[in-house]
Amino acid sequence: MRRINVGVLASGRGSNLQSIIDASEAGTIDADVAVVISDNEDAVALERARKHGIDAVYIAPGQYKTKMEPEIEQKMVDCLREHDVDLVCLAGYMRVVHETLLDAFPDRIINIHPALLPSFPGLHGQKQALDYGVKWSGCTVHFVSADVDAGAIIIQATVPVEEDDTEDTLSARILEQEHKIYPQAVHLFAQGRLKIEDRRARVLPQRQAVPARARSG
Ligand code: GAR
Repeated sequence: MRRINVGVLASGRGSNLQSIIDASEAGTIDADVAVVISDNEDAVALERARKHGIDAVYIAPGQYKTKMEPEIEQKMVDCLREHDVDLVCLAGYMRVVHETLLDAFPDRIINIHPALLPSFPGLHGQKQALDYGVKWSGCTVHFVSADVDAGAIIIQATVPVEEDDTEDTLSARILEQEHKIYPQAVHLFAQGRLKIEDRRARVLPQRQAVPARARSG
């Protein structure tokens, strides 16, 4: 069966991007990173992509801090389509995704969040968990929908919160798990094993062919 093409949107350090690139190069996932797009010209994620011979594209984000105007998001869509992307992975992409992107890639955009959703959505999930006083936290890979951090959950991993944790130590413990579950989620998608039913993402036991993305839309 064919390998899928992944487009990654990243705003910063890109360690989750790296985990997907490494898994792809190691052959443990049936996916190749075809393009990395950033809204931040200086994102380390772009450097990481270039180092691996992956197209790295900066798209100037425009006037807003946390979103993009539809015309700018359309540039992302065009770029993703040019690279024949089947699956879009948000990896530390710090903007809210809107209809332009959602409509172009229905049920084909996933995100990693550093908390156990539906707890602590939005920014600083690790700090929110620490401040709340939970004893366990973790990370979540989920489909992206119009509501922030609210789409169907694909995989979660848990970590304990230690008595002396700071935001940094908890974030590091969670990040280790992020790097495991994000490639796993990409692999499940690549194998056609994710099926969204209402708000649940079911994981099918058998591999299925992933239909090519409709080229017209
Ligand atoms: C990760 O911890 C990711 O879960 C988080 O940003 C970090 C990016 O790290 N994402 C969010 O908080 C999204 N709301 P990375 O650039 O090294 O992958």
